Amino acid sequence: MTRGRLTIISCEAGRYFGDKIFNELKNLKLKNEIRIVETKEETFANGEIKVVIDESVRGDDVYVVQCMENPHHPKSINDRLVAMFCAIDAARRAGAAFVNLVVLPYPYARQEKKKAREPITASLIANLLEHLSINSIITMDVHSDAITGFFRMTDFINLFGANTILDYIKENHNQLLDNLVVVSPDMGGAARAKYYARMLNAGLALVNKERDYSKANVIENVALIGEVKNKNVLIVDDIIDTGGTMNGVINELKKNGAKNIMVATSFAMMNGKCIDRFHELYEKKMLTLVLGTDAVYHNEKFFEIYPWYKEVSVAPLVGKVIETINLRKPISDVIGKR
Ligand code: R5P
Repeated sequence: MTRGRLTIISCEAGRYFGDKIFNELKNLKLKNEIRIVETKEETFANGEIKVVIDESVRGDDVYVVQCMENPHHPKSINDRLVAMFCAIDAARRAGAAFVNLVVLPYPYARQEKKKAREPITASLIANLLEHLSINSIITMDVHSDAITGFFRMTDFINLFGANTILDYIKENHNQLLDNLVVVSPDMGGAARAKYYARMLNAGLALVNKERDYSKANVIENVALIGEVKNKNVLIVDDIIDTGGTMNGVINELKKNGAKNIMVATSFAMMNGKCIDRFHELYEKKMLTLVLGTDAVYHNEKFFEIYPWYKEVSVAPLVGKVIETINLRKPISDVIGKR
């Protein structure tokens, strides 16, 4: 028995990804009806947001899709967050039988512990989502496993982008996989790098990154642990934000004699100086490729201007997971591995 009619509700900033998931689901040829409904989002003069779902969702298995990281969308990330909360609340109040949330980079994931007199914002978001009574949340490569424990009532489904990324690299950049070392740019990413190294039959190295925790995005020092001399290198990270981490790590690897350097990440947000930094590294031949996923939106023009950036789609993975949930089947074999 399925969970019934499957409705994708795509929030404004998540439209492109909602459409992709919907197409994947259509290709899977489910027996029951699937449809996509776009939210109507308005902003009042004082900045408050109103979200309307114009079609009935009563009794449906609903998946609200939002993209927090969409640099081409006019709303701020915090407005997108509120729009997402509003869409969930609207679906719940409209009698949906199940309300699930697809938000691949978990919002505020990097604030999952406290160092000073500050909030644990990842937990704050979890509390708000639990209060909205979502049935499940689907994220990808969540920054810290601690976040899964912030949810008590909600089925926390964390997908792994690694296999999709690995398939792409093997198919398209096989020549860079010889004599390869996988590098984690910080200690927190060691398990991820270890998985990539195992799957690629490669060596492993780590970077000890020291941050200034009193400021966001400030890296104080990077030190390499391991050997990269005359090796091709693949650096894997969950997030690239300002590119400060990658810039520091790439310089350190080059100093230590690395050959071609590739970067793979689940969330190529690339804010602030990041794009200029990468472009400069590419022009200086210090960086061969940055590989991201479509969990962060980049438009066609971006791909034309920056030949060093390539993207893989994780929509097939998300589509498969949604289908499996809707069919009430186990998802452990579908979510990917790390
Ligand atoms: C940090 O723990 C993350 O894994 C990333 O390394 C970090 O968020 C990247 O930020 P940025 O690109 O600003 O250095």
